[in-house]
Amino acid sequence: MPKQTFVLNGEPVTVDVEDDVRVLWVLRDLLGVQGPKYGCGINVCKACTSHLNGRAFNPCSVRVGDLAEEDRVTTIEGLPGEVGADDGELHPMQEAWIDRDVPQCGYCQPGQIMAAVALVKKVKREGRTLQESDLDTIRNICRCGTYTRIREAVEQGSRAMS
Ligand code: FES
Ligand code: FES
Repeated sequence: MPKQTFVLNGEPVTVDVEDDVRVLWVLRDLLGVQGPKYGCGINVCKACTSHLNGRAFNPCSVRVGDLAEEDRVTTIEGLPGEVGADDGELHPMQEAWIDRDVPQCGYCQPGQIMAAVALVKKVKREGRTLQESDLDTIRNICRCGTYTRIREAVEQGSRAMS
């Protein structure tokens, strides 16, 4: 079985698995990292949203064999570490989520937060501040309909990330 190596939440990991297994199953089933959720498996619902080299991606649609050794995958578990948070501390976007009491069932929420952080980083790379129209680009589905609180939390988290 081929060996696959990439960087997960700041640490190199190696797994024995075929090239065509999707990254979501490697994370959840082989590495026990279950923040990224399985919803559709076909890059539609966005429940699995995580970051690849700092940008949002959907691990259900990427073959593990397409990752290079230096590729950095970040899941919600590794998000606080990206801002140098100590043990038990959270990323500012997660704090905003708590402050706005966003989740209902919670299933979609790791993906929502990862999408939000990637969006704010993208807007900053473009030298802009977050606009209402940027919020419309988040395509993550929430069957509980928490969209209004999500939008409020992204705006609050964005201010805290500046
Ligand atoms: S499970 Fe990945 S987009 Fe739905
Ligand atoms: S909080 Fe239930 S699916 Fe979004």
